[in-house]
Amino acid sequence: MKTSRIALVTGANQGLGRALAEGLAARMRAHDVVLLTGRSERRVADAAGEVARLAGTRAQVQGRVLDVTDTDAVERLAGELAARYGGVDIVLSNAVARLLPQESQAERADEFIDVSNTATHAVLRSFAPVLRPGGRLLVVASSLGTLGHLDPRLHHLFDGASLDQVEYAVESWRTAVHHNTAAEAGWPRWLNVPSKVAQVAAVRAVAATRRDRDLSTGTLIASVCPGMVDTATSRPWFGDHHDRAQSPAEAARAVLDLVFAEHVDPALYGELIRFGKALDWHDGTPPVEQDRILTP
Ligand SMILES: NC(=O)c1ccc[n+]([C@@H]2O[C@H](COP(=O)([O-])OP(=O)(O)OC[C@H]3O[C@@H](n4cnc5c(N)ncnc54)[C@H](OP(=O)(O)O)[C@@H]3O)[C@@H](O)[C@H]2O)c1
Repeated sequence: MKTSRIALVTGANQGLGRALAEGLAARMRAHDVVLLTGRSERRVADAAGEVARLAGTRAQVQGRVLDVTDTDAVERLAGELAARYGGVDIVLSNAVARLLPQESQAERADEFIDVSNTATHAVLRSFAPVLRPGGRLLVVASSLGTLGHLDPRLHHLFDGASLDQVEYAVESWRTAVHHNTAAEAGWPRWLNVPSKVAQVAAVRAVAATRRDRDLSTGTLIASVCPGMVDTATSRPWFGDHHDRAQSPAEAARAVLDLVFAEHVDPALYGELIRFGKALDWHDGTPPVEQDRILTP
């Protein structure tokens, strides 16, 4: 009997995550398993049922409740997959908290940081060690995730940082938001910017510790930028740019191409990848420009 491959997507009941789960289910084999995860039992069950019934679906699709802010649950699931299947082959860390333009960014900061960053750290800590050779662990970030989007005073917090140091930087940012000192310390008003830089930095940190071993087994740990995607979360932010956004299925394609690529390009390992190319970690728009142009 062939060994089953196991894939997991977080925040997969809608949006890009759902399209990624659909693409995995279509491109994996009949004895493989796609775990479509999300925080709501009903939404997860509905989505998993719908994906399982799609004409193109070949793999088994299983819905699993996973609130990514529950770091113990993330750890337990990784342990369960290691015990049952001997590890996991594909992990796509995708969840994000929805933020509306009219909401106070500061008031939503805790939830936003928990879903995007605390969860990313937990996924990296729990799933990277059980990633099977040849596996893929991709964190969905954004082109806002390059260091140049931050005030230069903050660069040292993320540049060359370990995962513990990234976590410390994220908690410093959270505290500054709580104390209303974030702006004077140089943190951008838009939560999405530090959050995405920190996701990319966390991936770089973990990748740096295992690069040679992973490359020798064709394993890829990286962050990805899907480009503009038309989803319920992004739509309120796009305004006039709405018609430039891709459908979730279109945006999922480049990410899935990385997942199913036969070889890992060393130039992409640990990097932020957009449409198959690594973005320069030091690039970015100076913070003063951001308020004018940013979308999530
Ligand atoms: N859309 C874009 O233009 C764009 C651009 C660049 C990057 N991205 C990135 O792409 C990813 C997906 O974004 P999207 O636009 O597809 O968002 P979306 O449609 O709102 O989907 C977000 C998913 O995350 C889930 N989620 C929220 N909190 C969670 C939690 N605590 N535990 C588990 N799941 C949770 C949501 O579940 P519920 O349904 O229960 O809320 C939903 O399934 C994000 O990382 C985002 O930053 C998007």
